[in-house]
Amino acid sequence: MSKLWGGRFTKETNKLVEEYTASIQYDKELAEEDIEGSLAHVQMLSECGVISSADMLEIKRGLNIVLENIQSGEFEYDVSHEDIHMNIEKALIDEIGPVGGKLHTGRSRNDQVATDMHMYLVKKVKLFITHIEAVQQAIVKQAEEHVETVLPGYTHLQRAQPVSFAHHMLAYFWMFERDKERFQDSLKRTNVLPLGAGALAGTTFPIDRHRTAELLGFEDVYPNSMDAVSDRDFILEFLSNASILMMHMSRLSEEMVIWSSQEFQFIELDDSFCTGSSIMPQKKNPDVPELLRAKTGRVYGNLFSLLTVLKGLPLAYNKDMQEDKEGMFDTAKTLDGALKLLAPMIATMTVKTENMKQAVNEDYSNATDIADYLVNKGMTFRESHEMIGKIVLYSIQHQKYLLDLTLQEYKTFTPLFEEDVFDILKPANVMNARKSYGGTSPEQIKVQLELAYHHLKVKENV
Ligand code: ARG
Repeated sequence: MSKLWGGRFTKETNKLVEEYTASIQYDKELAEEDIEGSLAHVQMLSECGVISSADMLEIKRGLNIVLENIQSGEFEYDVSHEDIHMNIEKALIDEIGPVGGKLHTGRSRNDQVATDMHMYLVKKVKLFITHIEAVQQAIVKQAEEHVETVLPGYTHLQRAQPVSFAHHMLAYFWMFERDKERFQDSLKRTNVLPLGAGALAGTTFPIDRHRTAELLGFEDVYPNSMDAVSDRDFILEFLSNASILMMHMSRLSEEMVIWSSQEFQFIELDDSFCTGSSIMPQKKNPDVPELLRAKTGRVYGNLFSLLTVLKGLPLAYNKDMQEDKEGMFDTAKTLDGALKLLAPMIATMTVKTENMKQAVNEDYSNATDIADYLVNKGMTFRESHEMIGKIVLYSIQHQKYLLDLTLQEYKTFTPLFEEDVFDILKPANVMNARKSYGGTSPEQIKVQLELAYHHLKVKENV
């Protein structure tokens, strides 16, 4: 099998070397982008008079045949042609003859592969933005139904203050909003065309890179050919944004695992999103959030792997950079699966409002509010904090909650206590009292929901 670059060589490539240096096993995923890029490239070449329009039409015809063969699954990838670029070029020449050899005029695989990767990521990032929005929609739906649902809010996984379930879920809405913004923002650095950079220094042909960019829908063109073929920061940015997104999704997953446990029973995941145990008939396992949580590891790994590959590489292209692909594909696949499952899993979970309510009735998470109560009666916050600490201790020792103490018991601590303390202590009132901007009171949650609709561009009413 003769190589496209065989001229300078006198010996066949060692088979193990072929296997080792090839990337076709995985970069075939870029086939469509590669052909799309080539179609634009030959169009531009003919417009600039570098090739004739008859040659351009013939090459396009050939590329479309190759594309059909790839899409129908007939295409035979050959490791001896190393990567997707040379597999396609070889197939083109086989299809239309030597004129196919004009396709690679004024370009190199270095700018070609970078172009394919940019195109791939622009598509994926746009797709993930819509997937994130689906997750946000599911969150908003649950939040709308649970503005008044009280559950314990935790710090250190210890009961802290009662919050609304809507508030808790909306916290994730904003995390995902920032994830979406990060992806959106990355597009202006990703939607930039490297093609025409040649191997590293540009080309002697009178090409028009801005025309190629226009044909491919790129918003900009790399102004430095060496930068265009050398950097992979656009992939690192994707991997890093993906890592942050996975981290957020894994925290929510973790909460789903905890909340659906026998100990909490705050939610129940839909049967269709759980699996059973092969030995324990009673089990209903939250495998999906568990796996999502775990798969965060591979996404972080892919980020670190590429950071390490690139560290210390001299300009311009180095073969090391072929190692940029598998982690990127793997991350895209991992994100896709996670986002697609998270949205319906949130939408179909049952929120056990009674259990949440019971939980807040059986804790001391209203303690801050009596501290505030005494402050309003004239005590300093420090003094009041100390006194409420003693009241909590007293209650624990007498196996009571703060709402179970009598006014007389309260008065033994300070005569400042009046009958109205009991109203202040009710969990729903504790929640309703947090009216500061961004707080958990239903009125503030409604403000938040309005903002959320605005970000999702949904014109619904609360
Ligand atoms: N398969 C190669 C890669 O992924 C394409 C670029 C090869 N360039 C070269 N000069 N060997 O990086």
